[in-house]
Amino acid sequence: MTSILACAAWPYANGPRHIGHVSGFAVPCDVFARYQRMAGNDVLMVSGTDEHGTAIQVKAEGEGLTARETADKYHQIITEDLQGLGLSYDLYTRTTTLNHRAVVQELFSALHRNGYVVAHKQLGAISPSTGRTLADRYIEGTCPICGYDGARGDQCDNCGNQLDPIDLINPHSRVNGEVPDFVETEHFFLDLPALAEQLQEWLGERTDWRPNVIRFSTEFAKDLKPRAITRDLDWGVPIPLETWEDAPMKRIYVWFDAVIGYLSASVEWARRTGDPEAWRRFWTHEQAESYYFMGKDNITFHTVIWPGILLGANGEGSRGGEPSAFGRLDLPTEIVSSEFLTMSGAKFSSSRNKVIYVRDFLREFGPDALRYFIAVAGPENQDTDFTWAEFVRRVNFELANEWGNLVNRSISMAHKNVGAIPEAGELTEGDRALLDASKAAFDTVGTLLGRARFKQAISEAMRVVGQANKYISDNEPWKLKDDPARRDTVLHVALQVVSDCNTLLTPFLPHSAQKIFEALGGTGVWAAQPEMKIVDEEGAPSYPVLTGDYASQQARWESTPIVPGTPLAKPTPIFRKLDEKLGETGPEWAPIS
Ligand code: MF3
Ligand code: ZN
Repeated sequence: MTSILACAAWPYANGPRHIGHVSGFAVPCDVFARYQRMAGNDVLMVSGTDEHGTAIQVKAEGEGLTARETADKYHQIITEDLQGLGLSYDLYTRTTTLNHRAVVQELFSALHRNGYVVAHKQLGAISPSTGRTLADRYIEGTCPICGYDGARGDQCDNCGNQLDPIDLINPHSRVNGEVPDFVETEHFFLDLPALAEQLQEWLGERTDWRPNVIRFSTEFAKDLKPRAITRDLDWGVPIPLETWEDAPMKRIYVWFDAVIGYLSASVEWARRTGDPEAWRRFWTHEQAESYYFMGKDNITFHTVIWPGILLGANGEGSRGGEPSAFGRLDLPTEIVSSEFLTMSGAKFSSSRNKVIYVRDFLREFGPDALRYFIAVAGPENQDTDFTWAEFVRRVNFELANEWGNLVNRSISMAHKNVGAIPEAGELTEGDRALLDASKAAFDTVGTLLGRARFKQAISEAMRVVGQANKYISDNEPWKLKDDPARRDTVLHVALQVVSDCNTLLTPFLPHSAQKIFEALGGTGVWAAQPEMKIVDEEGAPSYPVLTGDYASQQARWESTPIVPGTPLAKPTPIFRKLDEKLGETGPEWAPIS
């Protein structure tokens, strides 16, 4: 049994999730975590809502809310989206908790004590009319990199580069148009050059990562400069140093606080289970493994910045030092990054109304259709275009015709002829070949899932489904009225393989797996689902989280022998076929234009 930490990137609290978001981080992470639990490993899956920083403040301004109100609103909505998808978080929390603040502050302090966080003077913007610091996001100008003239002082939305206000050409206040004064101000920087040697050495050993991730990160790590990790703004974690803690316009930069969320969520999870030290087995043990799932725009934050923070807080950079209060923390085992899901060639974008929201999708098609689509046709290795036509084709011809039909006709025939799971007589070579194929798939599919190769894994599982369909067509049990013993043997073999395939598909399709388990006469929880709970901390407001009792589920990564004599009811179809027209028009709420 290995302790496995499964980390899914933290969604910004700036809107409901669209299917592009969840295809890159949350669904793959859940498939992986579910497989690892079934394989008998000790799994902790954590994430939460990323609530600080500019993105949330900008959204709040647009909606006439405070940043806190915006964070509350979208944390609730995102939590519902993720629960609807059946994502089995052990804890899905948020970054505005007191616990998160304390953990972030401890790592910041450790880095500072060890000499990896250093103050530098920079030019900061002051409003001439008020004399107060002008937050980065309130300054607008022309981007020095791409020439876009609506760039903000913290970043350019056109080219995506991180900026400082002083970089802008023709800077002016978005509030009243005045030209800011630039005066010296101090900020803290993560001293990446003092960690570069260790980072490069560590990256050099990561030979088993996806090639795009390793190539991109190695390149990035070649030329590391100190990186500002505080900002002129008033929404974020306060800087835990005397005279800084109360500075109204100095906060820790959102990316620095967000990545630490993986640790703070683990600590929070442990405390909520009643064993406050339980997080350690996922973070401080030699054999523990950690897997991080995200879209490609998040790669360097996870492959360089986060490991840099960990090395520095451990006291393992070129300046040495002492570990933080958490002790020596492990660096990531693997960073699994996806490409983008696009729509008609463009990135999903809520602002341009090119968007398919998770909640609309779930309302109409349910979670497993989307999970299936993401697994077989998602952006695992390359940018991938979502089209309704392909969605309809996959659901109708693969999920419904191949898998749904296999389940339905095997159980129907057994129900009609026997009323229960039939006894098998002597097995032919063909019977054995099929049974062996489905047993062997546990190794093949399991190995692929353990390496986060989702497309190959689900194709291998679906290949067994295809073999089983062929077996039924070849053996024609409906023509065996005069040889009930042979008929029962064929049906028994078919049902055993249905049960095996259902197990192989459980990490991908947990909701239908539960139904098929029951249709085969099973009782109790086969695949557990996340629950929403309202929790609180002493002296702070309550908030919703996702958590779940996954240890109680029965699903195991092995062939479970079916039990002859188990009564079977008449099955109802598991997957609904979609109207072909949907492929041409799209649904009303996301029409193809
Ligand atoms: N909120 C970021 C985004 O949506 C992801 C943060 S991942 C974390 O791009 F690791 F920082 F939490
Ligand atoms: Zn730009």
